[in-house]
Amino acid sequence: MSEDCQKIPQHVAIIMDGNGRWAQSRSKNRVVGHKAGVETVRSSVTSARKLGVKALTLFAFSSENWLRPESEVSVLMELFMFVLTREVKRLHKNGIRFQIIGDVSRFSEKLQKKIKASEALTKNNTDMVLSIAANYGGRWDITQATKNIAKKVKNDDLALDDISEQLMNDHISLNDLPDLDLLIRTGGDYRISNFLLWQAAYAEFYFTDILWPDFDRKAFEEALNSFDKRERRFGLTGDQIKSNTLLGN
Ligand code: IPE
Ligand code: IPE
Ligand code: MG
Repeated sequence: MSEDCQKIPQHVAIIMDGNGRWAQSRSKNRVVGHKAGVETVRSSVTSARKLGVKALTLFAFSSENWLRPESEVSVLMELFMFVLTREVKRLHKNGIRFQIIGDVSRFSEKLQKKIKASEALTKNNTDMVLSIAANYGGRWDITQATKNIAKKVKNDDLALDDISEQLMNDHISLNDLPDLDLLIRTGGDYRISNFLLWQAAYAEFYFTDILWPDFDRKAFEEALNSFDKRERRFGLTGDQIKSNTLLGN
């Protein structure tokens, strides 16, 4: 199908997995895979923007990844800092709003400052939103939302009966973006690894064996082609969806 009439997901998230195996299969240190992965981040942002995706959310570092060898964690932090320094101007030039989701309080002061500055610089951009999940966990996200709501109830700013799915949603990361349409995982595993647990409620899932450093524009397009062929029913029947489509809804 041509790009013109293709149904493009508004919000795509990616679990960027397979950097370590990519490097190891070349008898290289895992870190080499992370560096190659950065280039794929770059190309994916460009592809997403060109294909008309409005929000791209990338899982860069999970709350569990701290458990990796210290040497790997520290290289990942350095890489993160380096990429922010090198790339944010380019994002800004391309009209992309940048934000971090996750518990940034565990990062160094320097990194936290860089994150704040990057978010501030790009905050009025409207072409696409790039969210990087760093020290992120889906369970953390639901917990922080619950805590914030509980605080409001305790301070009498909210009544117990005000708590609804919508209110919960309003306190969860990415609440200002379109609902998650497509969740891609590279690297051959079929799991969510504590990523967007709440947000993925009705996302379409796409798994590929391609390792993250090899996930090129063609691979991205294949994921979008697969999305285009899905029938999203949201609990309705296929017939209901079809008649709705016939009515132009
Ligand atoms: C994903 O690649 C990147 C991060 C988790 C930071 P991995 O490092 O998990 O690569 P594999 O899964 O070991 O190949
Ligand atoms: C998920 O990959 C986290 C990121 C891509 C940042 P992992 O490699 O950490 O996930 P598991 O350990 O295979 O579940
Ligand atoms: Mg992995």
